[in-house]
Amino acid sequence: MKITGHTRIIGIFGDPVEHTLSPVMHNAAFDALELDMVYVPFHVRSKPASDLKAAVASIKALNILGMNITVPHKETVIKYLDEVDEYAREVGAVNTIVNKGGRLTGYNTDGAGYLLSLREETGFVPKDKNIIILGAGGAARSILYAVLSGKPRSVVIANRTIERADDLAAEFKGRFKKISIKTVLLEKHLIKEHAWNADLIINTTSLGMMGRGAVDLPIENLPGHSIVSDIVYRPLKTTIIKKAAARGLATHTGLGMLVHQGAIGFELWTGQMAPTEVMMKAALKVLREK
Ligand code: ATR
Repeated sequence: MKITGHTRIIGIFGDPVEHTLSPVMHNAAFDALELDMVYVPFHVRSKPASDLKAAVASIKALNILGMNITVPHKETVIKYLDEVDEYAREVGAVNTIVNKGGRLTGYNTDGAGYLLSLREETGFVPKDKNIIILGAGGAARSILYAVLSGKPRSVVIANRTIERADDLAAEFKGRFKKISIKTVLLEKHLIKEHAWNADLIINTTSLGMMGRGAVDLPIENLPGHSIVSDIVYRPLKTTIIKKAAARGLATHTGLGMLVHQGAIGFELWTGQMAPTEVMMKAALKVLREK
């Protein structure tokens, strides 16, 4: 990588930001396409709140081309932007900013990135399908919105805190009136009641991450054609992914979503198609080294 006076900067704001794989993925992509760009992580703390405001202002002041936004800033950043595209507004979170001639526009590529990778790896499209989503946090919200836009038959949201699932369901029921949206507590025997006809089950909770307990899923009650999907990518193969594979079910890991949410951002910043293979290889290398 050669940095000159022409090199354009793209980055990520997060707290923490040390573990992000985005710099490795994007810098590998810039190298592969010989783009004069560099991707840098910026540790932007959530307190004082004025730090995020100043950081966003710096995108303009420093003529930075684009930015990814990660935890805990995805929601708060919205108020500092000039424009927010409709999808990100509906989801209420921004993970990608584009600086076009001094105007900052926010996008959310998480849900679309998730669905793209799921389709690429398994052929799954949501239309008329029965889907179970575990979790009701920020990640669930983005994925739920993308999935509901694909007109499934039904969605069941399973969460440890049922009120959070109920709130999410109530909000989306208003927007997607024809789709059955139910909620249950995140407990194996309750999920089991919905497992028999599930075409897809998605874990969006942090359960299964390195050092955390696993989700207890009724894998044995899922139909043989169903897909088990986990957005966790550390470890690459979580307990539920291993159990589903052992039963012969199709699986989808979190690596695909990571790469594709980044790839959509890459395309917004550069106007070029992202080399997703290169990005995946770069992310995989780091994940395997750990
Ligand atoms: P994210 O943006 O990654 O989705 P989040 O908004 O904090 O993060 O949401 C985390 C999700 O994981 C929530 O659904 C959370 O359940 P609660 O709403 O009950 O908090 C879920 N989660 C986290 N730790 C969990 C645990 N130990 N057991 C069950 N669910 C858990």
